Amino acid sequence: MKHLLYSFLLGLGLSTSLPAAEQNENQNSELAATLENEFKQSYPETLKANGTVKSFELTAKESEWALFPPYKTRVWSYDDSVPAAVMHIKLGETVKLKLDNQLPQDTTIHWHGIRVPNAMDGVPGVTQPAIKSGESFVYEFTPKDAGTFWFHPHVNASEQVERGLHGVLVVEDPGEPEYSQDVVWVLDDWRLEKDAQIYPQFVTRHDLAHDGRWGNLMTVNGEYQPRLKVRAGERIRLRLVNVANGRVFLPSFAELSPLVIAVDGMLTKAAFLLERFYLAPGNRIDLDITIPKNAAGQRFAVKDIFSREERTLAFLQVTSDEAVKTPAFEPPKAAHFPEWKDALKAPVSHDFVLDAKRGGAHGIAWTIDGEAWPQEESFKLKAGQFTRLRISNRSPRLHPMHLHGQFFKRIAVDGKPVEENYWRDTVLIGPRESVDIALVPLDKGAWAHHCHILEHAEAGMMGIIEVK
Ligand code: C2O
Ligand code: CU
Repeated sequence: MKHLLYSFLLGLGLSTSLPAAEQNENQNSELAATLENEFKQSYPETLKANGTVKSFELTAKESEWALFPPYKTRVWSYDDSVPAAVMHIKLGETVKLKLDNQLPQDTTIHWHGIRVPNAMDGVPGVTQPAIKSGESFVYEFTPKDAGTFWFHPHVNASEQVERGLHGVLVVEDPGEPEYSQDVVWVLDDWRLEKDAQIYPQFVTRHDLAHDGRWGNLMTVNGEYQPRLKVRAGERIRLRLVNVANGRVFLPSFAELSPLVIAVDGMLTKAAFLLERFYLAPGNRIDLDITIPKNAAGQRFAVKDIFSREERTLAFLQVTSDEAVKTPAFEPPKAAHFPEWKDALKAPVSHDFVLDAKRGGAHGIAWTIDGEAWPQEESFKLKAGQFTRLRISNRSPRLHPMHLHGQFFKRIAVDGKPVEENYWRDTVLIGPRESVDIALVPLDKGAWAHHCHILEHAEAGMMGIIEVK
């Protein structure tokens, strides 16, 4: 009734003033509608399975792996491989994966970044019971997005992921251009003792008081400084995945000037030059790299320059063969990406405060809003609604915060707008920094959100966001 009256007065061209609160509310809902409209078609709410089922079987078990030959390191693996052999499917296909647990403890698989039905998300006690030692479980889902995704246990992850349980799932979009080579690089680090065995104390006080467990050996695809053979003129799609427990990588390709075409699985609004991109635990980037025509016989070192002490991760070894013709196509990009110019006009619906306190099973508890996992209450979000959230880090440590089941966009750091033209599922929050993110949740269910420094998560830094 009130609204009718006001619109009637407005219709007459009479000036009118709504009570301030109501005016705000109207503006907010108008703004929300605009932002939600801009979001539409960014990625699908549902995707029809095309009927092709890709069946996989994985056994999680103890095995040996030569991380640093000639030593053999005792690891935990999927099918005796660290990382697991890369799984490829095409968009529209259904994954059916039977996991056999031959580990000495419970496990699950979480599909990091993949919008799966909530019951397939692998969070014990929330989306499924943990899979007991000696038992098995079948995961079945049809990914709705193409891209680079990964999977890992969500039970005692600080130990299980560290010991070698992780793998990559590439969902291919047949509509995307074909590169000379399509390569996955899994970046990891290990804390090894003298005989190249895994240091068996996990979630130590030191790890907890710092940025988790940082190792002394960095590997790419479970190998120390491997070489990727390429030919001059080739155009490579290189998919980088950070599976480390705590280490942040800052990958540097020197003079190769790669383009970033995807972040956390999803194509960017437009390709951009790789500069300083902090690849935090959980993050992925897809790079588009052209090997110069005159580079035959050359070797390019790929380095991590996060720390003062640069370290070589791997090499691109160009063969001495004659240069090949470089495939010519525009780098793939997102079909639609929202402008969200006014996202920072929307109200912050919640400020998640990250901090630590004394106590808990490990002596130090990492908290969200003062509480260590399990939280008394989950945070509720409405499906389809534009939402702006803030995450405020009150601690002097790093926290790569990961949200299951949703993509979001970083829109501000310490209140100042940032322009990131891509989606994320994990965002690194610096010491005492606050980050604003925006999202339109589509996938319903109880989704975990947590720090991807697995020691921090193990010591409590996890909560549930319920999308209804
Ligand atoms: Cu890779 Cu719950 O995370
Ligand atoms: Cu953390």
